[in-house]
Amino acid sequence: MNRPAVLFVCLGNICRSPLAEAALRKAAQSAGVDVEVDSAGTGQWHVGDPPDPRAQAMARDMGCEIGHLRARQICSDDFHRFTHILALDDSNLRTVEQLRPTDARAETRLLLDFVHGREGQEVADPYYGNADGFAATWADVSAGADGLVRALSAAR
Ligand code: 4NP
Repeated sequence: MNRPAVLFVCLGNICRSPLAEAALRKAAQSAGVDVEVDSAGTGQWHVGDPPDPRAQAMARDMGCEIGHLRARQICSDDFHRFTHILALDDSNLRTVEQLRPTDARAETRLLLDFVHGREGQEVADPYYGNADGFAATWADVSAGADGLVRALSAAR
C-alpha cells in the first residue's frame, strides 16, 4: 500500500482539525507508523490564521506545538493527494462529499468512525465555548487518532 496520507477537515481549520493533526502526529510517532498528516477547513474566514490560542494552549499542554500551522481551505487536489479525508462533523462531511471529484483517491469518513462504539459521532465545535470544550476536543481527536493508527497498522 502507498504511504497513508490523512487530511482532517473542520469548518475553520483553527480549532478541531489542527488538534486532530497534532494528535495523529503524536499517536503515529509513538506507534512507529509513517503517515503524512495535514488539515484544512471548509470555510474561508480564517484562511492564513494560526490555530485559535485556546487550541494552541491545549496542544502545548499535551506536548505538541501547533503555533506554526496556518489555516487553509480544502481544494480539489486534496482528493488526489490524500488517502483519507476525515471530517470532524456531519456538516463538514457533507461539504467534503459535495466537493469530491468523481476520480477522487481519498476515502471520506468521519474521524470518530475509527473509534469502536462511536461510529457516526461528531467532534463538537469548541469555538464558541470555554477551555473545557478544548479538553473535550482533545479527548475526542486523540481517541480518533489512536483508532486510526490501529487501522493504518492493520492495513500495512
Ligand atoms: P473549527 O472551529 O471548525 O473547529 O476550526 C471553528 C472556528 C471558527 C468558526 C467556527 C468554528 N467561525 O465561525 O469563525
